[in-house]
Amino acid sequence: MINKLIDMVKDAGVIFKEGYNSKKYIEFKGKKDLVTQYDKNIEKFLIEQFSSTFKDFNIIAEESDNSKIKFKDSIIIDPIDGTTNFVNKVPHCAISIGVYIEKKPYIGIVYNPVLNELYRAEAGGGAYLNDILLEVSDDDNFQTSLISTGFPYTSATNSDDLNWVIKNLKKILPKCQDIRRLGSASIDLCMVANGVYEGYYEINLKPWDVGAGMLILQEAGGKVTNAYNKPYDMFNDRCIVASNGKIHDKLISYLKD
Ligand code: IPD
Ligand code: CA
Ligand code: CA
Repeated sequence: MINKLIDMVKDAGVIFKEGYNSKKYIEFKGKKDLVTQYDKNIEKFLIEQFSSTFKDFNIIAEESDNSKIKFKDSIIIDPIDGTTNFVNKVPHCAISIGVYIEKKPYIGIVYNPVLNELYRAEAGGGAYLNDILLEVSDDDNFQTSLISTGFPYTSATNSDDLNWVIKNLKKILPKCQDIRRLGSASIDLCMVANGVYEGYYEINLKPWDVGAGMLILQEAGGKVTNAYNKPYDMFNDRCIVASNGKIHDKLISYLKD
């Protein structure tokens, strides 16, 4: 299944790359939440491909009405993760595809067509960036750890969410090497998998932001939980905490403070 998926995702990447260099028509789903014709076109293309080939799976996709879809044997699509980057031509954006069987992660693909970087993992089969096997970093010192985060769109309208972001930046920034906010949750998880970041945290993500990246990180030896160190439920939990495993408890202790 993974090779067929990769072929389809690479075909979708042609639309992505063409869109990256073209004029975008932008609509606002919320004050900060953008969508372009390319988000819709890529999603439509992938749904057509997946539904005709993988008939045993239903599809959960960001720009679609998912209200009647029951998560079980599912393919989860984010057609462009990092739309703000895509619109502004920051080359940090990707197509994210997570495949689940009986609600368990089976395949994850995160493809950045602009940089030609394809992250992939199969449950039990390790994780790769193009053909390079991925492994998390072995730094166990929080002070030298590079941490990544994101700012939820809701922080524009919800003061609790904005305060959560500020409060945790204030706590974590002095205690680590530095903090990055590159704007694509799926790639952030892959960069922890690749040993670039030691840790990553964010609130208010959706299954399509993390459905692929979580498996890629776990297959590279990393850890993903909620803020209470329990398995992260991508449909219900507010905060995701991801790491190389070695700084996980420290990161959680600062987030819980
Ligand atoms: C967003 C990105 C971003 C994260 C946002 C997500 P989108 O996805 O992953 O890094 O901070 O919370 O919604 O809207 O570009 O698909
Ligand atoms: Ca996303
Ligand atoms: Ca998206």
